[in-house]
Amino acid sequence: MPTFPDGFRWGASTAAYQIEGAVAEDGRTPSIWDTFSHTPGRTRHGDNGDIACDHYHRVDEDLDLIASLGLQVYRFSISWSRIKPAPDGISNAAGLDFYDRLVDGLLARGIEPMTTLYHWDMPQWLQDKDGWANRDTADHFGEFTEAVVGRLADRVPTWITVNEPYCVSYIGHLEGRHAPGICDEAIAVSTVHHVMLAHARALQRIRDLAPTAKAGITLNVSDVHPATGSTDDAAAAAKVDLVENRMFLSPLFTGRYPDDAEAFYTGITDFGFVQTGDMDAISAPIDLLGVNFYEQHHVAAANGQSDGKNDRVRGAHKRDPAEPITAGGVAIRPQALRAVLNRVHQEWTDLPLWVTESGLALYDYATPDGQVHDPERIDYFDGHFRAAADAINDGVPLVGYVVWSLMDNFEWAEGYGWRFGFVHNDYRTQTRTPKDSAHWLKRVITANAVPPRDH
Ligand code: FCB
Repeated sequence: MPTFPDGFRWGASTAAYQIEGAVAEDGRTPSIWDTFSHTPGRTRHGDNGDIACDHYHRVDEDLDLIASLGLQVYRFSISWSRIKPAPDGISNAAGLDFYDRLVDGLLARGIEPMTTLYHWDMPQWLQDKDGWANRDTADHFGEFTEAVVGRLADRVPTWITVNEPYCVSYIGHLEGRHAPGICDEAIAVSTVHHVMLAHARALQRIRDLAPTAKAGITLNVSDVHPATGSTDDAAAAAKVDLVENRMFLSPLFTGRYPDDAEAFYTGITDFGFVQTGDMDAISAPIDLLGVNFYEQHHVAAANGQSDGKNDRVRGAHKRDPAEPITAGGVAIRPQALRAVLNRVHQEWTDLPLWVTESGLALYDYATPDGQVHDPERIDYFDGHFRAAADAINDGVPLVGYVVWSLMDNFEWAEGYGWRFGFVHNDYRTQTRTPKDSAHWLKRVITANAVPPRDH
């Protein structure tokens, strides 16, 4: 039975816009996700986060739910536009009060808060000043961080500055599938830099205001392979690896953009947005790295016939994965998590690693007995937890595993169609039902081990 080291931490994650609802309450103003989801054609079925899981109003009930699952860590994010609703920069006390209550509620139940500062919901007023295309946004993020850390520093032991800068930069600003829905490669690359700079500004504030807290960033790292042994496919795979992984790992851990970035972006950008001191700030020491793991890709050289979905990195074509795949069409490859963790450790950093997200989309439903049976999710996490244990045995300093997600929620452009939760949410009644996987997860946490598969 794969067991985990003493002190290994188990948790679940959410993000503000995906669960909170209450979008116009207590002084909150719209974020880019309010704007985007209310723009016709942007999300599946026109779904939006106006109500989502109504977590803002049900926070006490949800705290009890978190405790009932046996979770040791709860990772949540802060809605920037609750804290800084307007360009005047004044902090909104009511917004801070909400997270204050959440943190106190966690601590009262013996659960450790892990706080993400940016999980994609920039205030619309900042987007109106060009958002991540504007370098000043990094400084605004520093001021937002100061307000949040100023209030919560005495109680939050672990801070994540930014969630998945890859998705922010490329899905939001090149593919346009996420807010703010921009399709411009030069803006996407400047966004990479400004988001990493925002990380640096936030890190500095955390160091100043919470010197004993641990701080890091969460990257989604994918496992990338050439589709064949050809040199063309190897070159194409290197491009996907550059865009998805190394554009973030390299500045963070070496203080430089990767050597192949300049050639790849020739004619798109000359990196003129990098100013003196930026790279030192971006590579300032952190205490932990969060790894979100979802995807493995097999990449071929592009044949010029773009099918849109699989050709989002110039010159590269991601092959459709063979089964098993999730309801979202994503390859299920538990050992790829082991590979990613080993790679990050061996090539990039000795720091403690956390899996800050991993999970799969299913179309879960409640059966007449009132239960939600999700054997596929149990199977998925059985494999991924075993792979995590393998990585630890390989020598990777993995210290915690935070699953995505606590409960079904607003899955960005996919709306409410895909369910990622360990807890089912009936959006008509807001009834929360722990799925079979939640009961299984509790056993894992209690034993600090993955139970035999036939149970
Ligand atoms: C990640 C996001 C998270 C959720 C999962 C499924 O990329 O960080 O908010 O949408 O994917």
